[in-house]
Amino acid sequence: MIVAASLLGRIVKSQLPPDTGVRCGSETCRYRAQGRYPQVVLLGAGYDGRALRFSDLALSWIEIDHPATQADKLQRLGRLGANTSHISFVSLDLMSGDLDAELAKAGHDSSQPSLWICEGLFPYLPSHQ
Ligand SMILES: C[S@@+](CC[C@H](N)C(=O)[O-])C[C@H]1O[C@@H](n2cnc3c(N)ncnc32)[C@H](O)[C@@H]1O
Repeated sequence: MIVAASLLGRIVKSQLPPDTGVRCGSETCRYRAQGRYPQVVLLGAGYDGRALRFSDLALSWIEIDHPATQADKLQRLGRLGANTSHISFVSLDLMSGDLDAELAKAGHDSSQPSLWICEGLFPYLPSHQ
């Protein structure tokens, strides 16, 4: 868990304003995001469909995931013809990539509040490195 704690600590230090929630369920996400957060960042997004389900909220979504998982998701979304115009997909290995730089490239505005969602990721990260 040292790596997980270090990753979370880095995110909190570099990106999180003090009142930002780190984890929430789907309905909480809808409730919290409405009118409070212009952007949502999904870390280790996997096949999470919230960005699609909540496209009516007029938020910008950034999905960060391991390149292998994200490539598969993008193929599937392409086959479905899903509208993903409100989503920025960041293909990144969180263990080795530069999260801050990739977020900036994806249009993340660190001067604005973000809703951060990080579900099911940490068990996949090595406990030591
Ligand atoms: C169990 S899934 C959780 C997906 C989603 N957040 C959910 O709750 O349904 C774990 C996710 O973590 C991602 N992941 C694992 N190791 C990663 C790494 N080193 N960098 C980026 N993403 C990683 C996987 O690609 C996968 O999408």
